[in-house]
Amino acid sequence: MRTYNYLIICLVLLSFFKGSVNADEIQLAIVKSYFTTIKPEKNLNPAKVKLGLILYKDKRFSKNNDVSCFSCHDLGAGGVDHLKSSTGTQKRIGDFNSPTVYNSHLNFVQTWNGRAASLEDQLDGPVGSEVEFGSSWNDIVEKLQKDKAIMKLYTKIYNSKMTSDNLKNALVEFERSLSTPDSKFDEYLRGKIELSLEEKSGLKLFINNGCVSCHQGEGIGGNLFQKLGVIIPYFDKSKKYKKFHYGKFNISKKERDKFVFKVPSLRNITLTAPYFHDGSIATLDRAIELMGFHQLGIKFSKKEVQEIKAFLKTLTGKVDGELIK
Ligand code: HEC
Ligand code: HEC
Repeated sequence: MRTYNYLIICLVLLSFFKGSVNADEIQLAIVKSYFTTIKPEKNLNPAKVKLGLILYKDKRFSKNNDVSCFSCHDLGAGGVDHLKSSTGTQKRIGDFNSPTVYNSHLNFVQTWNGRAASLEDQLDGPVGSEVEFGSSWNDIVEKLQKDKAIMKLYTKIYNSKMTSDNLKNALVEFERSLSTPDSKFDEYLRGKIELSLEEKSGLKLFINNGCVSCHQGEGIGGNLFQKLGVIIPYFDKSKKYKKFHYGKFNISKKERDKFVFKVPSLRNITLTAPYFHDGSIATLDRAIELMGFHQLGIKFSKKEVQEIKAFLKTLTGKVDGELIK
């Protein structure tokens, strides 16, 4: 725990030395030292993306043919299911809240506790999990290779019998196509537009108070691990919680990784309620308050919370030129 506290204090101090944003003026150059615009993936293979989307929506991935990736990561609903925790095959309920699939290829590791090193690795999670597909790659290949339409698309690309590696390859190619560029904030970073006064105040609060020490870069998060409750404990150490709350500790078994999670990306964050790894936080206002308090030791006023929220709203990006919903 010490190490994390120390690290975070260093990060916050560093952000001050780097240049805290002036109270009445905001320098684009400083903002640009923390964040970059979303750059959609280049050189994607359109045939693979097309097959990937078909697989993404295919309920035969699940044991009872009742759920698909789309069921828990609805592309018309911010890439999530808006449930506290997801419902898998045979209506089984899991522990974790479903993170968005939009921009997930930007994350340095996948899942809340970071146990999957890549999008390919991540796919073994839902397939085998009893609370997601409750299936196996063998069963999935068995079912899908009987589908003539899928096999036609598949053989054109892979020119081989169906394998789980190739199915993963197509799914990941599709996932890599799920960038949401050209948000209001990206246009601002490009110097093309101005933010409103309220949005700018929110951005200033976000930078000057140190949110940016954890949520930065292209994804505005998704590139480091941090403890939930790094300054003021979020969990009571003397109590026992369900295993999944211990985060990265479940993977590393190191004491210092208790309650440590991947810092989530805040891209499209207004669309992905409820919040936190367990989906226990219903509103963005509450998530901002708790972050201020537990991660930074700050109690924000109502006005400040609204300003930060206004800034976060500028992070909603576009797909095919339209803001995503
Ligand atoms: C039953 C609901 C459910 C299904 C079905 C499901 N997911 Fe998920 N997905 C989740 C949950 C819950 C998590 C978080 C799990 C964790 O952190 O351990 C997750 C995590 C992810 C992540 C990691 C995102 C991040 O920010 O870390 C990706 C990517 C993803 N899923 C893609 C998919 C794809 C592709 C499929 C289909 C092959 C799929 N999911 C099927 C619920 C589901
Ligand atoms: C010390 C690192 C750190 C700092 C500083 C920090 N966060 Fe976070 N943030 C996290 C972590 C870790 C999570 C994941 C919490 C969880 O899994 O339950 C998170 C989650 C969030 C979420 C919910 C995301 C989701 O998908 O559920 C929001 C919103 C958020 N942070 C905003 C902020 C704001 C605004 C600030 C500044 C007031 C801030 N954060 C400061 C590490 C940090």
